[in-house]
Order: sequence, then C-alpha cells, then structure tokens
Amino acid sequence: MAIEFIDLKTQYARLRETIHQRIDHVLENGQYIMGPEVGELERRLADYVGTRHCVAVSSGTDALLIAMMALGIGPGDEVVTSPFTFIATGEMIALLGARPVFVDIDPLTYNIDPLRIEAAITTRTRAIMPVSLYGQCADFDAINAIAARHGLPVIEDGAQSFGATFQGRRSCGLSTVGCSSFFPSKPLGCYGDGGACFTDDEQIAGRMRQIRSHGQDRRYHHPVIGINGRIDRLQAAILLAKLDILDEEIRARARVGARYSSLLAGAVRTPHVDSRNTSVYGQYTVEVPQRDKVQAALSQQGIPTAVHYPLPLNIQPAFASLGQPAGSFPVAEEAARRVLSLPMHPYLDEFQQDTICSALIDAVTWQ
Ligand SMILES: Cc1ncc(COP(=O)(O)O)c(C=O)c1O
Repeated sequence: MAIEFIDLKTQYARLRETIHQRIDHVLENGQYIMGPEVGELERRLADYVGTRHCVAVSSGTDALLIAMMALGIGPGDEVVTSPFTFIATGEMIALLGARPVFVDIDPLTYNIDPLRIEAAITTRTRAIMPVSLYGQCADFDAINAIAARHGLPVIEDGAQSFGATFQGRRSCGLSTVGCSSFFPSKPLGCYGDGGACFTDDEQIAGRMRQIRSHGQDRRYHHPVIGINGRIDRLQAAILLAKLDILDEEIRARARVGARYSSLLAGAVRTPHVDSRNTSVYGQYTVEVPQRDKVQAALSQQGIPTAVHYPLPLNIQPAFASLGQPAGSFPVAEEAARRVLSLPMHPYLDEFQQDTICSALIDAVTWQ
C-alpha cells in the first residue's frame, strides 16, 4: 500500500456515514452561510479549548487577520513574531501595513526564543505573535510574562497545534487571542478552508465577530471595516463530525510520534518536546544533513516527505524591504537547511513506519 504523507482517505472512510448525514442535513435545509452548525461548532470548540469565546472563520490566515484587526493593529505598528513559520503569519501583519519584527527561534523547539523577545520590543510594538510550530506550543509562561510587563496582547498562531497542551492547558487558550486553521491537513481539518479565533475577552470576541461579517453589527449596518471572513456551514458540519474522534486521533498521533522517535534515536535529530508540552505532531520533523539527497532517496522508495520551511520569512523576497538578509536569524536559517517532515497521520501503521525509518536510516548512513 502506498505511503501517504497525510492520509485523509482512511479517516473519511471511517466517518463516511456521519459526514454524509451532516452534509445532507445542510443541503436539504437550504441555508448555506452561517446557520446552526456554525453556532454549535463555536460552542464545542470553545469548550474544547477552554476559552469563553470562539469565532469560527474562513481560514487560519483570516483568523490572524481578524484577530489583529480586532486589536486595532495597523500602519506603523510592529508585531514581534517568529521568522520560522508559514508565510501567513508575517503576511497578515504586513497586509495591515504593520511591520513584522522577527526574533530568532529556540533551536530545540523551533519556536520563538523568549530570551530574545524583549530586545525586539519598541514603542511601536502592538503585539507579540508566537507560532506553535509543528504541533508544540511556544513557551507561553515566558511570553505572557514579557507581554504583561510591556502591556502587550499575545496572539498565538496555533494553526499547527490545535489540541496540543502547554502546562495542561490547550493551545489557542493560552493568551489574549488564539488562532487556528482547519485546512484539510491540519490536526483538525475540514474539506476546504476554515479557521477559528479564541479568546476570553468579551469585547475582543465581539469585535472579531463584527469584522468576520463585513464589520456589521446588524444587517447592512457597518460601524467598522471588516472582511468576508465567515466559515461556511458545510465546513462547520464536517468539523463537527471530525471533532467526535479528535482526541482519539491525537492519542494515535502521539503514539506514532513516540514510535518514530524511538526507531530513529541516534540516527537523526528527532523532535524535542518540552516537558511542559504535549505535541499533536502537526508535522513530525527531523533534521538531516544533505537534505536534498535524503529526500530524493526516500522519494525513490515511494516515501513522501516535505520541508517546513525551506526559507525563513526574512529571506522570502516578499519581505526583502524589511532589510534582514540571510545571516540575520542564524538559528532559524540553519534549521531551514536541515529540517525534513516525515509522513504523519493517525492511521500510519507500524509496517509503514518501519519502512520509512529503515529507508531514512539507510539514506543518512550512506552519505
Ligand atoms: C503556522 C501557520 N500559520 C497560518 C496558517 C494559515 O492557515 P490557512 O491555510 O488555514 O489559511 C498556516 C497553515 O498552513 C500555518 O501553518
């Protein structure tokens, strides 16, 4: 059987009946935008994360945009964040006319290094935006303490970490606002684009709700500028079906992750999960020398891999105007040269995992 990087088909086969029932219900009901599934999803997600409010939105990217708009971030402002992330994190800051201020990462967890944050804070800083990369939360104790000293909100980019915990509390419920993505390949994914913002703050939640629907407080009355940031009802219905098995899938991910780490110990650098964290392994990412050769050797044996991410944001041409060329963030840049993500999903069986690990060990030993 072919090894999938992420196997969504097995999950679908398992949930087929429930998903179809839920989809049919929406189709037969005739209301396709918002609707009861969205409200039900928001209640269940808020309950799951442990926040008072959840605002379900059109994508993880829009969740970041909406959270920052609700906090009033705009031209001339600065947001402190990690350069080692998917483009959306820095992109949404820039889209609002603000400046992403990158801070190098911790070499063990790949998350923003809290020891370097304070030096990046200026009078223009309006927020800190840590990314919980590869399924493991950033150090929220340290980050929240710095933010409190400077009176700044903290927005978690939890696109890869939905379901993870830090000190027993769930990702997206650890700071002022938490944002997640329900892109199909995420630990909780729909069949299109989707995302959510989480907060305990009633006013911020109210503003995010307005911004999600063109800034309106009631139909055709628009006190503020917003966007079309709604999640569609079909995606909400699909997420409700998948939520029923999320915890079981997270346990399976943890099993797969732990087994990878024991099979690969000593051969490659395996993920370091901080003792305060549980990881959902949004990605299972190792470090290898001569990555291109290793990736080609695995590909020849039908083993798909991916690189998250080959360029830190400071080196992306889109951010050239920030003037932070190669060499500005040595830890992130070295990680970007070495990281390699292996197939990871709850349905990866032991035989497939053994095949992947022996091919990887061979590929790194032959070099
Ligand atoms: C760290 C990070 N932030 C933001 C996003 C954006 O989420 P979406 O693809 O749902 O817009 C992603 C998704 O890939 C991500 O990995």
